[in-house]
Amino acid sequence: MTDKQYILSLDLGTTGNRAILFDRQGNVVGQTYQELTQHYPQPGWLEHDATEIWRDVKQATERVIADNQAQATEIAAIGLTVQRETCLLWDKTTGEPLHKAIVWQDRRTADLCDRLKAEGKAEVIQQKTGLVLDAYFSATKLAWLINWVKQNKPDLNWDNVMAGTIDTWALWNLTGKQVHATDVSNASRTMLMNLDTGNWDDSLLELFNIPRQIMPEIKPSMGMFGNSSSDLLGVEIPITAIFGDQQAALFAHGCDRPGLLKCTYGTGCFLVAQTGTQVTRSNNQLLSTVAWSTEKQTNYALEGAIFTTGAAIQWLRDGLKLITSAAETEALCNSVDNTNGVYFVPALSGLGAPHWDMKARGAFLGITGGVQREHMIRSVLEAIAYQVKEVVNAVNQDSANPVSLLKIDGGAAQNNFLMQFQADALGVPLERPVVLDATAQGAAFGAGLAVGFWDDYQKLISDRQIDRIFEPGKGQFLAQDNFAMWSKAVTRAKNWIE
Ligand code: G3P
Repeated sequence: MTDKQYILSLDLGTTGNRAILFDRQGNVVGQTYQELTQHYPQPGWLEHDATEIWRDVKQATERVIADNQAQATEIAAIGLTVQRETCLLWDKTTGEPLHKAIVWQDRRTADLCDRLKAEGKAEVIQQKTGLVLDAYFSATKLAWLINWVKQNKPDLNWDNVMAGTIDTWALWNLTGKQVHATDVSNASRTMLMNLDTGNWDDSLLELFNIPRQIMPEIKPSMGMFGNSSSDLLGVEIPITAIFGDQQAALFAHGCDRPGLLKCTYGTGCFLVAQTGTQVTRSNNQLLSTVAWSTEKQTNYALEGAIFTTGAAIQWLRDGLKLITSAAETEALCNSVDNTNGVYFVPALSGLGAPHWDMKARGAFLGITGGVQREHMIRSVLEAIAYQVKEVVNAVNQDSANPVSLLKIDGGAAQNNFLMQFQADALGVPLERPVVLDATAQGAAFGAGLAVGFWDDYQKLISDRQIDRIFEPGKGQFLAQDNFAMWSKAVTRAKNWIE
């Protein structure tokens, strides 16, 4: 393995797909990124074209190698990390998706979830899967897709159908249509995996009418998944790690012991706390989930999933057109002292933790005549921080030791206004690493450790550089006082649609 120079990490996120080469020091050598088209067929629905995802993965991979004068033969292994819960069905004979993938933010199955709740199914589902019954997870989305295919393609041979989350789709294509598998961290987000056995739960498959034979094999997060097809890069490269993106970031931050936690500021915000080798249950609406596993050991986590954070900034840019780039929000927010009484509820896809309200919708409250664009924008960024504060409060209520430091990453973690406001709102410091692509870095670490490219996880973690610590400052009193008004706004926006 000594002649190998790189690990290739493929980070397939909600808004775009990225290929990154990491060197032996765990640093980024180069990366390519392709934004992904978002399809909104109806209010509250969101789909991705899986064909576009695979096409972009191939192109990003070829480009990152060419742009950095690297050779495919120098890549020791591939690590894959993906947006979780998004799922699809495809025909293995044609290789074509049977419908667009339904994205984790999609709420089309909210009524089905409500029906199941009314039938008293929520408790058993939570007991088996660690998850709150919600349209967020894959199970009801797969049920919807199966129904749609049965109605629209009645002659289809179901022996040819495959189901999967985005990792499974990418893996099957990477391996030249050979391997139909997923890892346990992604499987734990489908609401079909039994958290205690680490396998598909037959009674849940039956509840959602999902034939077992269409489901992928569940494998450890780190270990051999298969080789990439030589058609892709001319040589076969082992694929040796797959993680859900939030679990990958947890791994990159070195959160391998209870008490350590991180928050990734991406499309949504995902605060994940390592709980060790035992499943821990929350009393405060957090999810119990798999952190990662090897052949020998499974680690678990508690998670607060917040659906709309970076997506709200993107909406300011693409929907409202109040800004032309996400980066300019920092200066715009700093140009005013406060929001002038405006509060924003970012329920653009309902609300996740700790509310789990699929029928909440976004709202601006407290608008008066003096309110300007800058105040509205600032209220959106403050709302991101307040949502994270709600989840930190839930983690504190679940644990004996209050959160004293938050490790952060993701695109919006670059925003110094947001991070300072976050530290102020929480009253605890934030630690920002130099490499903000922690999701990709975690998948690279996992893949490299699995093939012996690296052999010391603790050294990799301690070699990571910290860019900045944000300490709570003079803004903390106001930021914490206004949290109560923001919470009142959230209450108004809940259960909005019938
Ligand atoms: O659970 C959804 C999450 O995995 C999406 O992550 O980075 O695409 O916002 P991201």
